Amino acid sequence: MSDLASLEQRGLSELAACADEAALRAWITKFFGKQGEVALALRKVGEIAAAERRAYGQEANRIKEKLQAAHDEAQARAKASALEASLREQGIDVTLPGRPVARGRLHVATQVLRDIQAIFADLGFQVYQSREVEDDLTNFELLNMSPHHPARDMWDTFHTTTPGVLLRTHTSPGQIHVMRELCPEPIRVILPGMCYRYEAITTRSEIMFHQVEGLAIGEHVSMADLKGTIIAFAQRMFGAERKVRIRSSYFPFTEPSIEVDMDCIVCKGQGCSLCKRSGWLEIMGAGMVHPAVLKNGGYDPARFSGFAFGMGPQRITMLKYAIDDIRQFWANDLRFLAQF
Ligand code: FA5
Repeated sequence: MSDLASLEQRGLSELAACADEAALRAWITKFFGKQGEVALALRKVGEIAAAERRAYGQEANRIKEKLQAAHDEAQARAKASALEASLREQGIDVTLPGRPVARGRLHVATQVLRDIQAIFADLGFQVYQSREVEDDLTNFELLNMSPHHPARDMWDTFHTTTPGVLLRTHTSPGQIHVMRELCPEPIRVILPGMCYRYEAITTRSEIMFHQVEGLAIGEHVSMADLKGTIIAFAQRMFGAERKVRIRSSYFPFTEPSIEVDMDCIVCKGQGCSLCKRSGWLEIMGAGMVHPAVLKNGGYDPARFSGFAFGMGPQRITMLKYAIDDIRQFWANDLRFLAQF
């Protein structure tokens, strides 16, 4: 019993002398390790005379619990004071101004695509996503261009190593996909997306650029509907005072085909360097869907008619903001991009 009393006393006084967490760890090994003093004291129970054994055991357990509790308390105190010390040493000055976060924004090409989509949404057009990798059949043949049709020269093409598979040169093959999916329902969609052409890169031409295709099909769709749609678009996009001019043109997949100009936004038709002194800026190609294309899409040309148009949003953006070089769009120069 006197051994136990001395164990209690030593345990408590050595604990009181522990200055930090490392000393506490050493203490716990000394008293509570496998061969520690508390374990030895408990093991001794067997050696005690039977009459005193019970009292000894109770006392040993009481001391064990007391030392354990005292240790836990001392450890909590040591932890709290270590935390306080580290906060004191590595103090954070919360009054310092924060570092500014660089804020991104939508690319100008995306902004303009969204503007165009919003205008056509108001006119009742839905957006249809079509693939960028196409086959020759859909990019050309089903659009009324047989394999050696001279009009194919208008679309210099990136071919893949798989014969007949190419990067679409325009969004028009999407017309076939949407017709085949929705036939015989009426259609009013736009098809925005990236196109690719094996062309010399110049200030006006890139090898990848967006187009927005439009397609409307129904039983009484006429050239007047096309004209009204184009005028509504030009005036929403460029200003209510815009005038639109229509010239005849040629595309194999439309008949008749037209090209659409708008009076110059800079000189209002007087002639300037943007419009090359003509007073007019071209904004899109369009026309009435060719009967052969309607048929390829599943529609009976005797009953259905439709109009289609295709515009280049990069060129439209250049007109809107007087940008003089199309290469700026994909050059990733923040001095350019941050202006929009
Ligand atoms: C076409 O691609 C036709 N598919 C348009 C069409 C659709 C006509 C439906 C009739 C009916 P075009 O090759 O003209 O036509 O291209 C249309 C627009 O894409 C051009 O007016 C121009 O804005 C843009 N574009 C064409 N080539 C480039 C290029 N290399 N870089 C940037 N924009 C281009």
